[in-house]
Order: sequence, then structure tokens, then C-alpha cells
Amino acid sequence: MRTQVGIVGAGPAGLTLGRLLEQAGIESVILESRSRAYVEHRIRAGVLEQRTVDLLNGAGVGERMAREGIVHHGVELQFDGERHRIPLSDLTGGRTIVIYGQTEVVKDLIAARLATGSPLLFEVDHVAVADLDSDRPAISFTHGGVSQELECDVVAGCDGFHGICRDVIPPGVLRYFDKEYPFGWLGVLAAVAPSSEELIYASNDRGFALHSMRSPEVSRFYLQVAPKEDIAEWSDERIWEELRARLETVSGWTLSTGPVLEKGITAMRSFVTEPMQFGRLFLAGDAAHIVPPTGAKGLNLAAFDVTVLTRALSAWYGSGDASLLDGYSQACLHRVWRAQHFSWWMTTLLHTFDHYDAYDRRLQESYLDYVCSSVAASTTLAENYVGLDMPDH
Ligand code: FAD
Ligand code: PHB
Repeated sequence: MRTQVGIVGAGPAGLTLGRLLEQAGIESVILESRSRAYVEHRIRAGVLEQRTVDLLNGAGVGERMAREGIVHHGVELQFDGERHRIPLSDLTGGRTIVIYGQTEVVKDLIAARLATGSPLLFEVDHVAVADLDSDRPAISFTHGGVSQELECDVVAGCDGFHGICRDVIPPGVLRYFDKEYPFGWLGVLAAVAPSSEELIYASNDRGFALHSMRSPEVSRFYLQVAPKEDIAEWSDERIWEELRARLETVSGWTLSTGPVLEKGITAMRSFVTEPMQFGRLFLAGDAAHIVPPTGAKGLNLAAFDVTVLTRALSAWYGSGDASLLDGYSQACLHRVWRAQHFSWWMTTLLHTFDHYDAYDRRLQESYLDYVCSSVAASTTLAENYVGLDMPDH
């Protein structure tokens, strides 16, 4: 087999890249180790920045999102028995965010790809990448028990944090920047109408809690828990009890409960690899960087990376100009580091840390109060949350 761009991974990064390349008239083959059902039901992100929405619309996959996505103009921060609204749109010249699950983005992209007949192989095994420093890199894999080799011009490593592409790069080339947080998030999907019109980020002495949503009938919640917490210890009753304890701190407000549809625990980590490329391999999305989900940035960053990569590949195929490809990492990393800082900032602002003493907690409360009462400070949160305009885009 031969193609122009071999894409490893059919998460948001790989699927969006495939779609953008198709629009640019560039061929690709997408290889995914999991089944279609698995990738379509992996519950993760829920908040899309305006620019990501615009990108998906421009890619011709925004029709259902326009119908089912929920546009939000603000978010709530809750602490010390009070809720404070950050009016995102008022502070950012009218920008909004859209609540539309990653599962739905992935379903729409897969449906669009299958409709055009462009190759997308699920359940591939033994994926290996070779000859990255030549002009004919190759991906070997097995599919349906048959070994195959895909010869490419370029390989896009869109295989997430635990993928194989990053590790193919020879030792000494990459520099890693890494931070682990002393907690994880227990995520819960529940068949109950949201108890709030907007997302609630709640700081509480018992730990952080987040009330999000997926639709008028389905709510999404997160609880800060110990990093190695066993999900078996969290019965549905215990989850609701803890969510109530952390969220029902505002007088008169109650949390509606319902059947739990899904629950799981995710570790919290920040990670960046520099550069994001080697020879003919380009890393995009979680394969190159991870942020803690408090800032809702991961999927949005993945969408940005593949936009930059598509532009660079279009220039290269169009005129032979490799300068944008050469500058790929630099163009991405500028935004990546802004998102790293914002995600770390939101995380440290809102979570409890075991090593915090009473003084640290007071500092945190003072900062939260400042973010909610100063236009300058709330604008900092708002403009980062809805997505900054940066000169490289
Ligand atoms: P992935 O989604 O990880 O996709 C990688 C794909 O590659 C997978 O399908 C995997 O199966 C496949 N793969 C791996 N190895 C191989 C291999 N060897 N061969 C072939 N295929 C392979 N982001 C936001 O923007 N907003 C949010 O609100 C938000 N909330 C989040 C909440 C949680 C609880 C979590 C965990 C994440 C959240 N994120 C959020 C982050 C977001 O989900 C990720 O950043 C996003 O999934 C990254 O997409 P990706 O395509 O780079 O990687
Ligand atoms: C979600 O709805 O899954 C979600 C919302 C906001 C975040 C993270 C996740 O910061």
C-alpha cells in the first residue's frame, strides 16, 4: 500500500487531520488499534472552543453539532458558599464555547470519512513505524491477521499519550517536560437533566468538583480523588453523596440525581515533548502534549496542531516549500505552552493539595475572590477559556 500521509490513531487529532487533508486534496490512510465502537464511546472532552467549532464547521462535519451542541456564554466558579458567574462572552467580545461531547465529534468525523470511502482501518495490530529519517517512511501493521506495509511521504503520529510514534524517535532528540498532580478525576455520566444552566467549577475543602453536561437529559460530573483511587470503592450512592457535599454549598440550590451510566478515574498530568517532529514524523494532539482537563484544552489543542500540519503539508505538496513543515513544532508549541500554563493555573486555583497548610488555602481563596471580582482577572480566565487569538494562527 502507498499513500501520501500515514496517520496513526483515529482519535480527534487523527480523524480531523484526515478530514482536513481530504479537503486539501491530500491522500491519507488512518490506522486505529481499537474498534470503531470503542473510539466512538470513549467519554472524554465536552467543551469546544469557538475556533474548534469553526474548524469542524469548515470541515463540513458541523451539522449535528449545530443542532445538538449547547452554546454557553459563561461559566460559574463556586467557593466559600457562593457562586460567581464569569461572563465569558461579555469579556471576550462575544465569544462562546459549545458543549458537544468528544464522542459525538468522533462519530461525526468517522461517518464523514466512511462516506467518502477514504481508508480508515480499525483494529489494526503490531503497528510499527520505520525509516523516519528517509523520504520514504513506512508503517507496518497487521489487519485481519494479514501483515501489511504502508509506504508514505509523511507519518502523522496522532496515537495519543500511550501511542508508539513518540517512542520511535531516537533517544536524545526529544526533550520532555512533565508534571504529575497528586490527584485524579473521577468522571461520571448520569441520565439526569443538568441542575445548572452553565458549568460549575467548585472549590471545596473536600476537593474539587465540576458539574458539566452533555444534553438536556444527560449530565457529566467530575470529583477530585486520590490518584490511585479504586473505582470499585465508589458506589453510585457514594458518588452522589460526595457530589452533594461539594456542590450543594450554595443555599437553596439542590443537585438532581439519576442513574449513573458510566464512571471512571483519570490521572492528572501535564506533559510536553519538544520538538513535536523528527524527520518525516509529525506528532499531533495528546501524542505530543497532555494537559489536566480543568482548562478543557486537550481536544482544542489537538484540533489546532492538525490545522497547522495541514497548512504545512498543503504548502509542501503545492509548491515544494518545506518551511512551514520545518516550523511545525514551533508554530504549535507557542499555543501548547499557553494552554499548559492556563490548565496548570486552573488546576492549582481550584483543587485541594495535601501539602497545603492554612496559609496556602487562604492564598487560594484570595486568588479565587480576585478572579471573580476583578474585570482584569476574570478576563484572563475568560479569554484563555474560550481560546486566545495568537499571532501564529
Ligand atoms: P486520543 O483521543 O488519545 O486518540 C489517540 C488514538 O490513537 C486512540 O483512538 C488510540 O486508540 C489510538 N492508538 C493508540 N496507539 C495506537 C497504535 N499503536 N496504533 C494505532 N492506533 C493507536 N479536552 C478538551 O479540549 N475539553 C475538555 O472538556 C476535555 N475534557 C477531558 C476530560 C477527561 C476526563 C479527559 C481524560 C480528557 C479531556 N480532554 C478534554 C482531553 C481530550 O480528551 C484529549 O486531549 C483528546 O482526546 C486528544 O485527542 P488525540 O486524538 O490527540 O488523542
Ligand atoms: C466535560 O464536560 O467533560 C468537561 C467540561 C469541562 C472541563 C473538563 C471536562 O474542564
